[in-house]
Amino acid sequence: MALFAGAFLILFAVVTTWLVINSAGRVRWVEHTLEVEREISEAQATLYAAESAARGYISTGNPGLLSNPVGADRALWVKLGEISSLTSDNPRQSAALRGVEQSAAARLAMLARAVALKRAGSDAAAQKQLTDPLGIRQENLFREATDGMRAEENRLYVVRLKQAEDSRRALLVLSTLTGVATLAFTLAWISNAWRSTQALQAAYAELMSANTQLKTEIEGRAVAEGQIRQLQKMEAIGQLTGGIAHDFNNMLAVIIGNLNLMQRKLASGRSDIEPYAAAALEGAARAAALTARLLAFSRQQPLAPQPVDVNKRMVRQSEILRRLLGETIMIETVQGAGIWRAEVDPVELESAILNLAVNARDAMGGEGKLTIETANAHLDEAYARANGVAAGQYVMIAVTDTGSGMTPDVVDRAFDPFFTTKPAGQGTGLGLSQVYGFVRQTHGHVKIYSEPNHGSTVKIYLPRLVAEHAAESEESKPVPARLVGKPEEIVMVVEDEDRVRQFAVEALRELGYTVLHAHSARAALDKLQAEPGISLLLTDIVMPEKNGRQLADEALQIIPNLPVLYMTGFSRNAVVNNGMLDSGVNFLPKPFTLDQLGAKVREVLDAAA
Ligand SMILES: Nc1ncnc2c1ncn2[C@@H]1O[C@H](COP(=O)(O)OP(=O)(O)OP(=O)(O)O)[C@@H](O)[C@H]1O
Ligand SMILES: [Mg+2]
Repeated sequence: MALFAGAFLILFAVVTTWLVINSAGRVRWVEHTLEVEREISEAQATLYAAESAARGYISTGNPGLLSNPVGADRALWVKLGEISSLTSDNPRQSAALRGVEQSAAARLAMLARAVALKRAGSDAAAQKQLTDPLGIRQENLFREATDGMRAEENRLYVVRLKQAEDSRRALLVLSTLTGVATLAFTLAWISNAWRSTQALQAAYAELMSANTQLKTEIEGRAVAEGQIRQLQKMEAIGQLTGGIAHDFNNMLAVIIGNLNLMQRKLASGRSDIEPYAAAALEGAARAAALTARLLAFSRQQPLAPQPVDVNKRMVRQSEILRRLLGETIMIETVQGAGIWRAEVDPVELESAILNLAVNARDAMGGEGKLTIETANAHLDEAYARANGVAAGQYVMIAVTDTGSGMTPDVVDRAFDPFFTTKPAGQGTGLGLSQVYGFVRQTHGHVKIYSEPNHGSTVKIYLPRLVAEHAAESEESKPVPARLVGKPEEIVMVVEDEDRVRQFAVEALRELGYTVLHAHSARAALDKLQAEPGISLLLTDIVMPEKNGRQLADEALQIIPNLPVLYMTGFSRNAVVNNGMLDSGVNFLPKPFTLDQLGAKVREVLDAAA
């Protein structure tokens, strides 16, 4: 539209300019015609003036009347010359002019002769010459010719005037048209601009509304996502509690059933209850193992990290694994050179590797190759950020098998507690969750790489030990020679939970110790004041009023160097910081068996002696 309007206006401008120039030309031609006419009239007047002068002189004899006959003669020729140049473009007028010149010349010559005769005194001859019909004819010819030329110019004047008028009118029409067109175009442009502004405003409003809709949708989606997350969380908790309840019920069924059988036997006076007691104990031990794995997953098991030479550990453990996996599975250990010391609880590390090896065995269906590899590793910032681990130096242990591998879906869920693909009774789904919890609690990192039908690699990254001087102390663990105690060894048991206290007291008495007991820190401190000969304080950590740690601190004021042994089932307490045991602290995790209690008490007493 704009292009069309522009071209149209340019065309109008060109035509108008042409018309203006053309019209000016026409006007000039009209003026030219008038000038030619004026020149012709003047030429006529000049010849008639010469004629009158000659006639006056001849009839009066007054020479004053002939003041300048030669001048009149020359003036006529000048005029005729001007007319000639003015009409040179018009052949008709040029031809007519030649006639005018001839008759003018002949008439002027006769007038000159008449004047000369008068001067010579022959008045009659002069008069005769003046009225000679030939001369009169020449004069008539001159008049007719000049009148003809004027008539021709008159005709041209009419034609040219009309042409000038026409072009003026055309110019007027064209400029009116141009004005109208310009106005029309301007109006069209304004209306166009207005319409596009309207369209822009409409588009903007539409965009705004789409934006608002999008925002509402995003908010809606966020709410929906939150609900889905909540649902997933509830589902995970459901899976977890369901798994725990299921496994615990099985174990409780074993314990309760066997205890019932024992009761019946005892009621009927029989004492052959040993197999039932053993079965009940085994069920309880399995329940204890289950809680231990759960605590490991929730990163709440108390860990005792030590400097560990991972290569040495792996060599020792591969012997155990060889026995566990059987002869059809090949075990290869690839020990990295110059491996740094790791800071990790060695017992839990062993159990994690064992879990991975058992998974590998199950995946290989009894035949294949298990590779345990160690290496130093550096986790860079980008990897660390993407995997929620601190960047830095780690000791890496990779356990690789040639088994069935895992689909990405299984990899995603493998660390979930109670997630298992194994048939009921063959897997609890707690193995990898235990590994995960333990590694995370150790501030390490664990990652699964797996190809279905090719095998899997699980890589564990343990933080590098920073203290230079730390020596591996794991070999120096004293093995208690005997579990029994002596009557002169007095153990003070402090525990707010009656049943646990009762069991500990009776078990220690059974082992031969003299036992004092208290249900709170306050009562214990009173007894400590009264009995300064106490050899060991065995205390719970989490108790109302005063905790085990505070009790131990005050007890040491009364009896310096008193050995203290803590017991607890929970890692978030006064002795365990961030899941790590304070160094030099003796610790017995609950639940414990009589043997475990005896061994630990013996170990602490022997170490103090
Ligand atoms: N090396 C492996 N190769 C193939 N699949 C594996 C491997 N390790 C783990 N998985 C898969 O991950 C699941 C979870 O493993 P996890 O060790 O947590 O439980 P589980 O072995 O099934 O039971 P549990 O270890 O308690 O006896 C397994 O059931 C299995 O499907
Ligand atoms: Mg497993």
